[in-house]
Amino acid sequence: MNHFLDIHKTDPSDLEAILTQASAMKAARNGAPKATPDAEQPLKNHMVALIFEKPSTRTRVSFDVGVRQMGGETMVLSGADMQLGHGETIADTARVLSRYVDMIMIRTFDESVLTEMAEYASVPVINGLTDRSHPCQIMADLQTYREHRGPIQGRKVVWSGDGNNVCASWLHAAAQMGFDFTFTGPVQLDPEMEFVGHARQKGVDVTIERDPMKAVEGADLIITDTWVSMHDAQSARERRHNMLRPYQVNAKLMERAKPDALFMHCLPAHREEEVTSEVMDGPHSVIWDEAENRLHAQKAIMRWCLNA
Ligand code: CP
Ligand code: NVA
Repeated sequence: MNHFLDIHKTDPSDLEAILTQASAMKAARNGAPKATPDAEQPLKNHMVALIFEKPSTRTRVSFDVGVRQMGGETMVLSGADMQLGHGETIADTARVLSRYVDMIMIRTFDESVLTEMAEYASVPVINGLTDRSHPCQIMADLQTYREHRGPIQGRKVVWSGDGNNVCASWLHAAAQMGFDFTFTGPVQLDPEMEFVGHARQKGVDVTIERDPMKAVEGADLIITDTWVSMHDAQSARERRHNMLRPYQVNAKLMERAKPDALFMHCLPAHREEEVTSEVMDGPHSVIWDEAENRLHAQKAIMRWCLNA
């Protein structure tokens, strides 16, 4: 069995295999109604726990539907309703859950909750987002890029805005897959230097450019995310908005990228804040495909975790 904890902790060959399987499984469904079981039922008789300590629309629904399409069953749990929220250790929770379920997906705050869960669980654990990373999202995004434009290797990917958890997983992907990565945002919200350093060590060209107009020149892909993440203090909202406003992705910024550049956003988006509706709903945007591919990418991730 395998845990899926982070992109930089997963072999590049496994990442490629997961992406290939994700697209194959998507094609095989051929637009069938969503409750139609897949021809293959690799999760038959499997029970999957989906634990949420933060809100979620996409992750919750796509994991739930994905497990069912593959013949398994799910149990959606809110962290606050579990003993987890009342002092039972993560290690003990992991040991107990492993006696009931065949796989655990968890969305949590501190990364240590995820890593401790994985250390003590005897079943695969999947990272459904922490304060530090969001690998399932970036697998869906990589699948989306590939489906629209072919291999991402050697392309120029630009992140505009907050150097947050989603940005971190993009940096991890750059290190594993080999594409150029430019961050443009205020110095206070730079991505973690540990991740920048790791990507550079792997030979990736990581650029930090404060001027967004310069940063996006020649970009193949522009990405942004919310200015206030779920783990950020609401009291920092105004300060973050003021710092991030120059990094809004709008038509003027998109025009500086390559003519066939794509725009991505993990969603939920705040229209007219980090991105304008003109860009979200415009010809460069592939945001709905990204959201759909959460389903397909995660199904392939779950199969990889279970060797199923
Ligand atoms: N992109 C994403 O993870 O969305 P949710 O927070 O709705 O799950
Ligand atoms: N950066 C966002 C992503 C949400 C999917 C957050 O952590 O809230």
